[in-house]
Amino acid sequence: MNEDRTNYIPALRYQWLTGFYDTVMEGMMRETEFKQALVRQARVAKDYQVLDLGCGTATLTLMIKQAHPEAKVTGLDGDPKALEIARDKIAKSGLAITLDEGMAFNLPYPDNSFDRVFSGLLFHHLTREDKERTLKEVYRVLRPGGELHVADWGKAGNALMRSAFFLVQLLDGFKTTTDNVNGLLPEFFSKAGLQQVHEAARYATMFGTMALYQARKPAR
Ligand SMILES: C[S@@+](CC[C@H](N)C(=O)[O-])C[C@H]1O[C@@H](n2cnc3c(N)ncnc32)[C@H](O)[C@@H]1O
Repeated sequence: MNEDRTNYIPALRYQWLTGFYDTVMEGMMRETEFKQALVRQARVAKDYQVLDLGCGTATLTLMIKQAHPEAKVTGLDGDPKALEIARDKIAKSGLAITLDEGMAFNLPYPDNSFDRVFSGLLFHHLTREDKERTLKEVYRVLRPGGELHVADWGKAGNALMRSAFFLVQLLDGFKTTTDNVNGLLPEFFSKAGLQQVHEAARYATMFGTMALYQARKPAR
């Protein structure tokens, strides 16, 4: 099992900051607005198997399950501390959600096992190589005709958004964030074999342009 953590970046860069993650997201990032939009754009049906990749503290995971109680929802993250917070939130909600610890580029799931894969703010934590390895895994675990729905930093909408994004780059590092702000995620999705790739929406936030993307694994 490949558990290489050489380039691992926790939710707010340092593990001791993970406890503040939800407060930052809620107060400064239009989190509810863009995550709810992501859930709507994915059109989850009631018996779907859904994966939230890099689920962190499970805010998006919970939104998916709340909107679609009959879907089978799983969250995966590599950080035990974030998963501990996620477990508490899920227990309080009383909803049935599976949480797994694992690496995005080495998923512990069989081929063709999910109808939808979501990912909120994971890709800018991955090096280009890990983005590509992760997308290969996403392609593998999606069923033919299944879809990937991503919210992450996208091409800056204007000079102000580009400057704001320097703060994220200072925190999370230039190595993993530059491809995002150069607008390269859609190209990576296509390279992984996904089709109908497009940017569905973008949001101006305090830290830069948040983009919502979608892509589809070809039906057999
Ligand atoms: C910015 S947080 C986003 C959390 C959540 N998805 C959200 O939208 O709020 C990024 C998450 O990705 C996780 N992560 C980073 N690299 C990872 C990897 N290689 N495999 C799995 N999770 C990873 C971190 O632990 C963190 O919880």
